[in-house]
Amino acid sequence: MNQTRFRWASAIAALVMFFVRALPLHAQSVESRIDQLVSQMTLEEKIGLVHADSKFATAGVPRLGIPRLWMSDGPEGVREEIETNGWRPTGRTDDFSTWMPADLGLAATFDPDLAREYGAVIGQEAKARGKHIMLGPSLNIQRTPLNGRNFEYMGEDPWLTSRMAVGFIRGEQAQGIASCAKHFAANNQETDRGTIDVEMDERTLREIYLPAFRASVQEAGVLCVMGAYNKFRGQHCCENDYLLNKILKGEWGFKGIVISDWGGAHNTKAAALNGLDLEMGTRGPYEDYFLANPFRDAIEKGEIPVSALDDKVRRHLRVMAAIGLLDGASWSEGGELDTPRHQAAARDIEEEAMVLLKNAGNLLPLNSAKINSIAVIGENAERRFAHAGGSAEIKSLYEVPGLQGLIQRAGPNVNISFSMGYSREKNDDQMIAQAVAAAKVADVAVVFAGLPHDWYYDTEGSDRHDLKLPFGQDELIRRVAEANPKTIVVLIDGGAVEMPWLDHVGAVVEAWYPGMEGGNAIADVLFGDVNPSGKLPCTFPKQLSDSPAHAMGSFPGKNGVERYDEGLLVGYRWFDAKNIEPLFPFGFGLSYTQFDYSNLELFPEDGSDGHEVWVKCTVANIGSCAGAEVVQLYVSQAHPSLPRPPKELKGFARIKLEAGEHGDVWIPLDRSAFAFYDPARGWVAEKDDFTIEVGSSSRDIRLTKTWSRAETSVQK
Ligand code: BGC
Repeated sequence: MNQTRFRWASAIAALVMFFVRALPLHAQSVESRIDQLVSQMTLEEKIGLVHADSKFATAGVPRLGIPRLWMSDGPEGVREEIETNGWRPTGRTDDFSTWMPADLGLAATFDPDLAREYGAVIGQEAKARGKHIMLGPSLNIQRTPLNGRNFEYMGEDPWLTSRMAVGFIRGEQAQGIASCAKHFAANNQETDRGTIDVEMDERTLREIYLPAFRASVQEAGVLCVMGAYNKFRGQHCCENDYLLNKILKGEWGFKGIVISDWGGAHNTKAAALNGLDLEMGTRGPYEDYFLANPFRDAIEKGEIPVSALDDKVRRHLRVMAAIGLLDGASWSEGGELDTPRHQAAARDIEEEAMVLLKNAGNLLPLNSAKINSIAVIGENAERRFAHAGGSAEIKSLYEVPGLQGLIQRAGPNVNISFSMGYSREKNDDQMIAQAVAAAKVADVAVVFAGLPHDWYYDTEGSDRHDLKLPFGQDELIRRVAEANPKTIVVLIDGGAVEMPWLDHVGAVVEAWYPGMEGGNAIADVLFGDVNPSGKLPCTFPKQLSDSPAHAMGSFPGKNGVERYDEGLLVGYRWFDAKNIEPLFPFGFGLSYTQFDYSNLELFPEDGSDGHEVWVKCTVANIGSCAGAEVVQLYVSQAHPSLPRPPKELKGFARIKLEAGEHGDVWIPLDRSAFAFYDPARGWVAEKDDFTIEVGSSSRDIRLTKTWSRAETSVQK
């Protein structure tokens, strides 16, 4: 589809929404209208706003024109309708939606414009489905490759996650939908997620786990934030005075609604006083929720001041005003669902999300004029993944599996065979033998390997047990590659897996969970209609024990406490500091062409536009086909007064170039790119020398220059 046209359309829609909302909603008049409404509401009516009266809704106050707020998951599209009580689907037929590629894949594009487009698609579909708040994006940092929800998060780096979050939220909220950044905070594992107590030092919290939430609030103006299930420093996150009152609402000035994760509230007083504004998903009758009758009773007895409730009500009304719901103002019906435009966006994004990990002897792209036969192998070639993963599940209008995509693209002249190759129930030697026989007689073998996106394999509620491909797939791939060296492995999964067969296969493509158009996008890349340009948003370790939380032995916690002893050294920060060779480093991804980097230059700024220095370099496409490169910029400090990771991503830019073409990439760095968090002082950017490293991955630095800062400055 024509991306440029879509981006223009989204930008114009955003602009129109901005003016539509800016006109009547003069901050002052909104606040006084809110005061007026609060003064007209009974205690009972106010209580009705701050807890659920359905699985995904709150009661409104029809008497005052305050509508019900409808919510839905989530991060990869609009979830199907769920029964009011319980978790069963309603069985409606009008709740199909567009399934976007996994958010981890979105992060692999390193393209905030695509994140905006992604958010816009979901926002438009939410609108068409009558939703007001969308429960996403999911912004927890990938601390361990085992986390069952890594697929719906955006990788291991706070800067990358922040940029993608801001794009996503802007795109979604421009449609008149409130986004809900989740899960605040330190929800980095599913094991014992409801009870685990996370302990980490303050600096790690500020530098690694909070930046994406802070950017969501302060840059994107996110309207809702969801509290996490876990505890943080002894207090549940949904009732956590430090996280919610002090940091989110106090320091960051968040004015919207804090929503509990479903069942994340535990105590009336703590919830009421420590920053929770809306209780959802608690077990039992809605009137018994902590923020329902027990809250009302506590107010009536004078145990909790009514001002605590009024503040929550104000927040609800403020969010309603922001999306044009108040007084029936400008909340327009509309939006659009399941359109070819949205399906094309899902395909575009997946095409840019795929990461080419290996391509020995330029096995890829396949030349359809020269290929007569392909042996397609593996259950994931036929499997559908949309309706999986927990709350991120989507009832997708359709889904193109890999096999179907290849058949459609290859056309009638290519003979395509399919063998399952493995069985989930038992190690089946006969199935391997069939696959090997098919591979032997085919020009190439394409093995769709990976994970099934269900219990223990990339889903909410459980973590993976290890990084191994299950169901004998390693053995299958090894034997297929032995039979046909032209073996291409397409991985469909939510993150790193071990690859003991890597040296024996010709090519490897990481496709993530690829969205409803996945099979078509994969075929586009395999046949070279699209040149892959995704980069890993997380380190792929050679073995689990190399990665920080596992090397420290802290995962999944002891005696109910998970200590983040690796501190700041999450992901590539750890591998770099400890000099451990990963299987594939953060930021890695090959292309069908090659890029040359030159002319790194630094342009000092006076700081008036917020930037301290602009970094420029020239990238040339020196190969034989068009392609895109993600230029990454890492910063390291020469003599920091507190120890810092060897290098940190502080900027990136994507550039598309025709064969033989070159172009300049400009990346701005502001003061924060040089700062670290000192718990005693705040964000400190020191007078010192900083190395600016520019490259194609965190381990493929092409150019460096030194930037000297003349003064130390401190900001809160
Ligand atoms: C998940 C949230 C989700 C909620 C509602 C919870 O189990 O953790 O991410 O938004 O359910 O479905």
